[in-house]
Amino acid sequence: MTELLEMKNVNKAFSGVQALSDVQFHLRHGEVHAFMGENGAGKSTLMKILTGVYQRDTGEVLLEGKAVEYANTAEAMADGVIIVHQELNMMGDLTVYENIFIGRESMNGFLINDRDNVKRARELFEVIGVSIDPYAKVDSLTVGQQQMVEIAKAVSHDAKIVVFDEPTSALTQAEINELFTIIDDLKSKGIGIIYITHRMDEVFQISDRITVLRDGEYVGTVNTADTDKDELISMMVGRELTEEVKLASQVADDAEVVLEVENLSAGRMVKDVSFKLRKGEILGVSGLMGAGRTEMARLIYGAEQPESGTIKLHGEEVKIKSTEEAVAMGIGYLSEDRRRYGVLVEKNVAENTVLPSIEKYISKGLINDRSANKDALEYNKVVRTKMTGIEQVVRTLSGGNQQKVVLAKWLLRDSEILIFDEPTRGIDVGAKAEIYEIMQELADEGKSIIMISSEMQEILRMSDRIVVMCEGNVTATLPIEGATQEEILSYAMMRKEV
Ligand SMILES: Nc1ncnc2c1ncn2[C@@H]1O[C@H](COP(=O)(O)OP(=O)(O)OP(=O)(O)O)[C@@H](O)[C@H]1O
Ligand SMILES: [Mg+2]
Repeated sequence: MTELLEMKNVNKAFSGVQALSDVQFHLRHGEVHAFMGENGAGKSTLMKILTGVYQRDTGEVLLEGKAVEYANTAEAMADGVIIVHQELNMMGDLTVYENIFIGRESMNGFLINDRDNVKRARELFEVIGVSIDPYAKVDSLTVGQQQMVEIAKAVSHDAKIVVFDEPTSALTQAEINELFTIIDDLKSKGIGIIYITHRMDEVFQISDRITVLRDGEYVGTVNTADTDKDELISMMVGRELTEEVKLASQVADDAEVVLEVENLSAGRMVKDVSFKLRKGEILGVSGLMGAGRTEMARLIYGAEQPESGTIKLHGEEVKIKSTEEAVAMGIGYLSEDRRRYGVLVEKNVAENTVLPSIEKYISKGLINDRSANKDALEYNKVVRTKMTGIEQVVRTLSGGNQQKVVLAKWLLRDSEILIFDEPTRGIDVGAKAEIYEIMQELADEGKSIIMISSEMQEILRMSDRIVVMCEGNVTATLPIEGATQEEILSYAMMRKEV
């Protein structure tokens, strides 16, 4: 049988910067092929070339042996080659069914036959086994649901190849399970799946083969069954990395309590939450997705108001009425949903980085650009943002590098209390180590950090103490000494009777 897809010697440059050099990629019918590599390695770019978003400079693409080159995504879709993007790009004020069928609606003469489109949308959701209201506005959906809409759209196109670009970065565990079931199903129909991810657990769970890129170059393709995490990391990073855990808390039990939260409640997601944060401490907040961790953080950051309970800073009760007030009180929050809240995509790296710290650079009504730019450069170097320079517009950075800019911004802002919500999601393994180092340095300097993370390894490596949440409740507060994955997980799944 001919191969489903063959890409050979693909080259692509953006204004002189070589994003892809002679890259190759092969895909079989009915295979899940994972695609890995560091931030900015060229993964999204290659897949955008395959699906008609970008055009290659040179190279060959064969679909079932036939040479193809797509001028746009519509042409690729017509051939059954479909991408579910890393940055979701739907029209938010349209309804779900309008989004799915835009440009190819069922018609009654010149009129769009809404009833029929809604019916078709319902049937699609039934096929992929999710329940979403076709009349809902896309904006009102969770990111996970939006993703399901994109998948429904893909399925409606009679796909041959479906590309998922970091699909799970904003999904709950239940949604991830749903997605994997759908992928299995697509696979059994002979559809080829390309799956871009930074998450090792996912790669070993669902892929048949893995291709790795580094700095725009092809490194190799391996059978998932014949490889392991260490081999993949060295293919991606070009060196070995060791996994570490923190063996003992680095904060004295009598260190000053900087933040104290007592009996905080709001809605169904935050119930009677209490904990203390000490000076210089990294407090890990563990739990499954949907445990209420982000909602809890939003109360402390002033984005939402608690219904009851108190927040104390240095022993004094405070009401934090807005995010601006939180920042003024020395609380910084790095959102897990960076695409919505994190960056101004049309601004450049420097502007994004210094934005919350701008008062530092103003004197006599003037902004000191030189010193702002110097700091922007320095902090982006620290997090290893891959960019042409601080003048690069953020929209043209790879997804992970956009996130690094947000990180650089909060590191520069220098808040007394930093809340990091999934700080390394979408960040490659090499850069993670660097980010961990910076976080520890901040704590050593006396900053206090709340680190919400769904990655057990990250929790065990960084935390001085661990708070575990389940369904809005704190189910345990554990010392790092002796903490194990199993123990944390059992508390993360411990439901409280109400
Ligand atoms: N439209 C564009 N204009 C200029 N440069 C671009 C553009 N799109 C991508 N690039 C550059 O091409 C390189 C590869 O980016 P790409 O998005 O393919 O990386 P990636 O492997 O998907 O990384 P990530 O894991 O962070 O998503 C990066 O250096 C990026 O800045
Ligand atoms: Mg990408």
